[in-house]
Amino acid sequence: MNKIIINGGKRLSGEIKIIGAKNAALPILFSTLLTDESTKITNVPSLTDIDVAVEFLNFIGKKTIKIDNIVNTFQSKNNYKYIAPYDLVKKMRASILVIGPLLARLKKAFVSFPGGCSIGDRPIDMHIDAFKKMGAEIFIKNGYIEAFANDGLKGANINLKIQSVGVTENILLSSVLADGVTVITNASCEPEVEDLINVLNSMGAKIIRQKTKKIVINGVKKLNGFNHRLIPDRIEAATYIIASAITKGEIFVKNVIPNHLRIILEKLKKSGLYIEETENVIHAKWTNNLCPQNIKTEVYPGFPTDVQAQWMVLMSLVDGESFIEENIFENRFMHVAELKRLGANIYINGKVVKINGVTKFSGAQVMMSDIRAGAALVLAGLAAEGKTIISRVYHLDRGYYMFEENLQRLGADIMRI
Ligand code: EPZ
Repeated sequence: MNKIIINGGKRLSGEIKIIGAKNAALPILFSTLLTDESTKITNVPSLTDIDVAVEFLNFIGKKTIKIDNIVNTFQSKNNYKYIAPYDLVKKMRASILVIGPLLARLKKAFVSFPGGCSIGDRPIDMHIDAFKKMGAEIFIKNGYIEAFANDGLKGANINLKIQSVGVTENILLSSVLADGVTVITNASCEPEVEDLINVLNSMGAKIIRQKTKKIVINGVKKLNGFNHRLIPDRIEAATYIIASAITKGEIFVKNVIPNHLRIILEKLKKSGLYIEETENVIHAKWTNNLCPQNIKTEVYPGFPTDVQAQWMVLMSLVDGESFIEENIFENRFMHVAELKRLGANIYINGKVVKINGVTKFSGAQVMMSDIRAGAALVLAGLAAEGKTIISRVYHLDRGYYMFEENLQRLGADIMRI
């Protein structure tokens, strides 16, 4: 069951309920290592990345059970394993977030080097620099990061050379139990980072976001358990809105926080889509005067790189010329070659692509390369005339909860084989 078949051309309409954010769930799952008390996380999506994180926690010694969309971790002693093995880390690079909590609790962590992936080299130099600034000694040996903080982590002033979600999160996951004050400047402010800060403060941490990109953490001695409902997945919500637009449909996306998609909604409105919002519902409707809109991917609140591929598909079917500039990852145009097989007219020039809209896509065989490119290929297949067969759909299962089922409910002729 690793292929998806789509008979395109069906107009999508109806409503979708958005589940909790994968990229909020992962750091919050690892935050459970910071307490020996029980914790509960709700609104958790059923995704392979979440399953890997749960497997990871149980391997380390934190009894963790996921039932439907709820994850419980149980009272435990602080006798965790300090080793995160290759065969677990290779499944999900966000496992790098385990270093912070293990250093904070055990004063050491041996974590296999996370691999790169199709969207880029995914270096971890800033993670390592941050821990060194907090007093850790780091050695790279036999493909492992061996981190020691024999005297415990100390508060430090850490200025990030580039804004990094994962590095901001790793510093938060370690400095909350460090001795002294840590100040992060040029820190990320994505909603998922804010969700982690809210959880840590609910555990008894003392974290203040002094300015948009400056976070101050006063280390404490102990953290308590928590009960937290994840924020909705803004990337998933954007993907469904674009799916309805690309099929000339209409959609009500529920359980969302419109502000988390502000720039995307502004761009969609400027491109001519009808958008109306209430506190937690976005109503989007296709109009027949869509026009091209250029985007540049940036850190939050800029246009998210995780919606770049989906936006490219939409612009590929809008009459006129548009440009996309990818500023976050160095190799996030893997979907271009696949879209061209469906009939897209796209030209890559370094980190910019030029798109000349075409009137239609024709179904073809294509292949997924990463989570978001995968979703974009599904969207393209939904709009294409005829049959599209997509392989390597395991990428999709890492980041999209019940994707085919939801699209079927909206009217798509899509199935997995
Ligand atoms: C998070 O990845 C997300 N993953 C990504 O989503 C998302 O695309 C990315 O943030 C950007 O928003 C999770 O939250 C699990 P970064 P992360 O560190 O933290 C460079 C998805 O599809 N960098 O903010 O790994 C890095 O190469 C995934 O859900 C260094 O140079 O991203 C990139 O160019 C894909 N050195 C830039 O920073 C470092 O030590 C931003 O990456 C770390 C990062």
